[in-house]
Amino acid sequence: MNTKYKSVPVKSSEITPYSQYLSRREFLRAAGIVTGSALLAACAPAQRATGTTVPEGEAPVLPPGKMDERGDPANSFEDITNYNNYYEFSTDKEAVNPLSQDFTAAPWTIQVYGLVNNPTVFGIEDLLKEFPQEERIYRLRCVEAWSMVIPWTGFPLASLLKKVEPTSDAKFVRFETVFRPEEMPGQKSPFYPWPYQEGLRLDEAMHDLTILATGLYGQPMPNPNGAPIRLVVPWKYGFKSIKSIVKIELMAEQPSTLWSAVGPNEYGFYSNVNPDRPHPRWSQASERRIGELGRRATLMFNGYAEEVAALYEGMDLIENY
Ligand code: MTE
Repeated sequence: MNTKYKSVPVKSSEITPYSQYLSRREFLRAAGIVTGSALLAACAPAQRATGTTVPEGEAPVLPPGKMDERGDPANSFEDITNYNNYYEFSTDKEAVNPLSQDFTAAPWTIQVYGLVNNPTVFGIEDLLKEFPQEERIYRLRCVEAWSMVIPWTGFPLASLLKKVEPTSDAKFVRFETVFRPEEMPGQKSPFYPWPYQEGLRLDEAMHDLTILATGLYGQPMPNPNGAPIRLVVPWKYGFKSIKSIVKIELMAEQPSTLWSAVGPNEYGFYSNVNPDRPHPRWSQASERRIGELGRRATLMFNGYAEEVAALYEGMDLIENY
């Protein structure tokens, strides 16, 4: 199983230690060094990192040649951290980076509870220590028909779930983003049922492709991408990959999700990438890869059919969208 995609164990020496990352951020904040993306875009080369407060000369090392298993190059750190959907901060993709710079990503805990034998509150440091971090270079296909290739670091969600031991009644997993309207101005909007919630069937959650990502390009997770920890489910539309998770609940019934509550006809529970099922307002047959001219064909399950099609055997994937 899963021989096609890359899963590279990352030496801990290759990942900036979380404590060092935070102290660098704090140092920069104290020194009054601001890295607003507009400012940097105007005066820095395109590949300059603006997603985190990295000082001159310390931009993340971006090894050339990172690519997915199909041979498509990874998007730049710059692209990945400056074109974001994170409605808690803004509906404007380019405003998320500057608006999220002061978000407090530490201390952080995730409560795992519900239908489990060992309900546990994990500190982010415990997770980093306990579960070996791997690099996974995945395509991220947004429901809005754009995509990127992102070199995540993280660990399989299954490792965490095994640790808390789901009971035999557990059939679904619900995820919840932090609710902090004082830091996340978008959460004051009455148009969305905050906090952001998502869900997976237990077998989807246990699939080895499903990870909890704690970083990208070897850096701790940048704020605009869901610091300090977010879900990544690469064969589903990007909105299933919920950011800044504080709760994981094992349940018997299918949980409600923010997007299916807002638009049940448009955003289903499954939301598997499917070029044959148009969104009611646009085609899903093709997509725009950020950084490329033109469009490319969208692949069934975002190119991960070999790994995940068996999860949906016998299901009508047009009906169960
Ligand atoms: N998670 C939360 N909490 N809030 C959001 O608005 N947007 C989703 C998903 N996770 C979102 C979220 C959508 S629509 C996409 S496409 C991806 O995050 C984008 O991830 P990225 O900004 O890291 O590329």
